[in-house]
Amino acid sequence: MSEDWDEFAAHWEQDEQPRIFRDEAFASLMAHGVLSDTARVLDFGCGTGLLSEKLSPLVKEIIAVDTSRVMLDTLKAKAITNVTALCADLDDPATRAGAAWLADLDLIVASSVCGFLPDYEKTVQTLSAALRPGGHFVQWDWLAADDDAEFGLPQARIGSALEGAGLEDVTVRQVFSVTFDGEALPVLMGAGHVPSA
Ligand SMILES: C[S@@+](CC[C@H](N)C(=O)[O-])C[C@H]1O[C@@H](n2cnc3c(N)ncnc32)[C@H](O)[C@@H]1O
Repeated sequence: MSEDWDEFAAHWEQDEQPRIFRDEAFASLMAHGVLSDTARVLDFGCGTGLLSEKLSPLVKEIIAVDTSRVMLDTLKAKAITNVTALCADLDDPATRAGAAWLADLDLIVASSVCGFLPDYEKTVQTLSAALRPGGHFVQWDWLAADDDAEFGLPQARIGSALEGAGLEDVTVRQVFSVTFDGEALPVLMGAGHVPSA
């Protein structure tokens, strides 16, 4: 997967759609009301850090993780003081075991990532286990009609995955759409939080 995404890195920030997606995701996150200036945030599948850039002035620290070194090179070149960029694959048991950063998180954001994961449900469980009591998980993904769709996730599958990971107050709804070649593609936001202590 990381080799595929490496090829997108050179033009990712020049293309209009990733920025529109980021701006809309950021707006829906603000409306969700889970940001705080003391928050320790994980931007999972951060890519070139489009969302991390917007979040960095509003939170304490961001751990930005991706499997594509080339995507991460763009983020590292931005040298954002409270953003730490890490190349890591949570499907690797050794990575999971040694990931000290995968703990004590107040918020995890995953923007257009979950639909590309080899084992979405397992990854959500791994990520949710790294949240502090009351911590929030928020993802944005293209709406897919069913599991056979070329990309994206079905709405019901997101709800099941988040609830299966032990998250509470799970909501999954369309928050915006992005137009490609004249076609408006709906984007879902899935959100939930771990129980408070
Ligand atoms: C569509 S891009 C989105 C990038 C970024 N979140 C954004 O909105 O600009 C998907 C990203 O997910 C990353 N990715 C894919 N599989 C991953 C995995 N298993 N773990 C972490 N990142 C992954 C890719 O390398 C790529 O940077």
